Amino acid sequence: MKRPLTIVVYGKGGVGKSTTCAHLAMSFARDGRKVLLLGCDPKADTSLRLMGGRRPATIVDMVTGLEGQNFRDLVMTSRPGLDVLETGGPPPGQGCGGRSVATLCQYLEDHGRELSGYDTLIFDVLGDLVCGGFVAPLRFGLGRDVYIVSSEETASLFAANNIVKVASAPYHEGVFVGGIIFNLRQNDARPEVLEAFAARLGVGITAVIPRDPDILDSEESGLTVFEHAPKGPAAARFRALAAAIEARKGAVPGASVRAMPADEFAEFSRSQRVYRRSK
Ligand SMILES: Nc1ncnc2c1ncn2[C@@H]1O[C@H](COP(=O)(O)OP(=O)(O)O)[C@@H](O)[C@H]1O
Ligand SMILES: [Mg+2]
Repeated sequence: MKRPLTIVVYGKGGVGKSTTCAHLAMSFARDGRKVLLLGCDPKADTSLRLMGGRRPATIVDMVTGLEGQNFRDLVMTSRPGLDVLETGGPPPGQGCGGRSVATLCQYLEDHGRELSGYDTLIFDVLGDLVCGGFVAPLRFGLGRDVYIVSSEETASLFAANNIVKVASAPYHEGVFVGGIIFNLRQNDARPEVLEAFAARLGVGITAVIPRDPDILDSEESGLTVFEHAPKGPAAARFRALAAAIEARKGAVPGASVRAMPADEFAEFSRSQRVYRRSK
């Protein structure tokens, strides 16, 4: 069986993972690929742009008996070639979001034949791997190519460093950190800082996506930028990102990938002038 291109996206909350995943999914589907986008956030926000705000059935609905086990009843189709499956999550303050992700992965393992119709799987994973459940797509061997979404902000870089630590751990043999996607919070972030950070980790920069009002406007209209502003720079950036990821499919994991120890990260953060205006 042909192995699907399987991308696992991690990054700090609010950094732009769901935005990136929805645009990647749409970009691949527009190129004729058969895509399954897997949302792993209790907010079920992965699919909102793609389903016009329609509330999806979720894996947690299935576990709690609100939905049956049938794969086709749980999957939603956004457009031909683009399906979405959401994990959902427990009510706030109850249960464990990571456990829901592990349940999704178990469900996918049990329904492996359903995945054979797809050539691209994209996991939009909540969080920064502090919770063991969020590692499930790697632990189950479902995904190999990890992409990290980060802004230039320290908390986001901290999460990115943590993700590299987990993904490059020896017990995740075969996991491949494909690169960092910098989704900027502020457009005057100095490129040198982003480059220095990626170099310390031994990881390439797959894309730099500036802050762009078209991205927010399209979200408010329940769309991606491909429909909302198809000729704008954001649409071109996301198309280029999809092409860059496609080009790295099957690449050999870099031996030089390493996370910074805590002291080195602290020293790195202190020593960088992140913004052009800063003294
Ligand atoms: N490059 C960008 N320019 C403008 N707004 C953005 C950009 N990237 C993300 N956003 C907005 O930021 C918010 C958080 O993004 P989201 O993708 O939901 O983050 P995450 O999934 O990592 O929690 C959303 O409202 C999204 O539209
Ligand atoms: Mg999200």
